[in-house]
Amino acid sequence: MVSIASTRGHQNVSMLGIGAYRPKRLISNDELCEVLDSSDEWIYERSGIRNRRWISGDESSRQMAVAASERAIQSSGIDRAEIGAVILATSTWKTLVPHGAPIVAHDLGMNGVAAFDITAGCAGFGYGLSVAADHIRAGSAKYVLVIGVETMSLGLDPTDRGTGFIFGDGAGAVVVGPSEENGISPTVWGSDGENSTAISQEYDLVEYMDRAERLQGTGSTDEKVGRLVIRMDGQRVFRWAAITLPKALRSVIESSGVSAEDIDVFIPHQANGRINDLMKKNLGLGEGVPVANDIENTGNTSAASIPLAIEEMLVTGKAKGGQIALLLGFGAGLSYAGQVVKLPPAPVEPSF
Ligand code: COA
Repeated sequence: MVSIASTRGHQNVSMLGIGAYRPKRLISNDELCEVLDSSDEWIYERSGIRNRRWISGDESSRQMAVAASERAIQSSGIDRAEIGAVILATSTWKTLVPHGAPIVAHDLGMNGVAAFDITAGCAGFGYGLSVAADHIRAGSAKYVLVIGVETMSLGLDPTDRGTGFIFGDGAGAVVVGPSEENGISPTVWGSDGENSTAISQEYDLVEYMDRAERLQGTGSTDEKVGRLVIRMDGQRVFRWAAITLPKALRSVIESSGVSAEDIDVFIPHQANGRINDLMKKNLGLGEGVPVANDIENTGNTSAASIPLAIEEMLVTGKAKGGQIALLLGFGAGLSYAGQVVKLPPAPVEPSF
């Protein structure tokens, strides 16, 4: 009888350290409205956004992911040689082949570790955190580095009234590892492919290449031909969010074993400040429970938004390490993932 070995890891896991990187260039609503037919008042009122950050100069997804990870590793105090896997959540890495995680691992001096990307839109960080926690619980790795990084500005049509004002760039990372008490609840996650076209690239890769080929040599000045522009039907996403997310949040709290009164902070994906305030109200969280509002000056950074928002709250003192936070990522797919977590300590080197 052949017996194949199996592993069993550490059941209690937590985020041990966090780090982030915010691009230097800040774009105000007024600056954006030089090309977008909108106004500072409209954008702030509908989305809660005043500024967003876009990469410039030598900034890139690769550079931001590495910078955020260095800070997360430093904050965790973990020797990087002990990190057994790197998970990169992103939808905007410049190439599908090669994927980004091995390159980031190499840049971090961790060449050789298991390294893979997760593409789950704005829910990507929550998916990554879930996979990391399960890797550790199953014994596949002792420590896992989870990174959310996006350069949304590369796929943005700044003249599009539906998306031009929403998206920003940035990176956040956490080191996940064993802990005395459990700090990451079971994940509640799901998807709705039936509504997937509500947030999508304007062209798929085949259409894009056909178009580029047809336009070649025609002298076309269509600026969008060089980019895979993202379109969003905001009202459709809003309707989906209103039906799906309250149920998901209740389910996250229920399966976490804590009660709504135990939640110290609410850190949802930074898609829309108004949606987030509404979700808090519907959940019946206490008046004094702070809601992350990183979107105001960072915009919607998709898979990077939750770790960036956690970092902002820890750095500004709105939240403290060890507090109980409710997380929920949601967006393209359409997909979502949520957990109740214990927050890591504030980063040693903040991103701002
Ligand atoms: N600037 C100024 N006016 C605009 C505008 C813009 N950028 N975009 C639309 N408008 C106008 C419309 O023309 C319309 O005018 P009318 O009433 O005179 O016809 C009005 O504003 C309302 O347009 P609408 O498309 O209904 O906007 P909205 O209230 O749905 O707000 C979003 C747009 C994108 C802020 C909102 O739909 C939203 O947040 N959706 C969810 C997005 C989300 O969560 N995405 C997740 C991504 S991960």
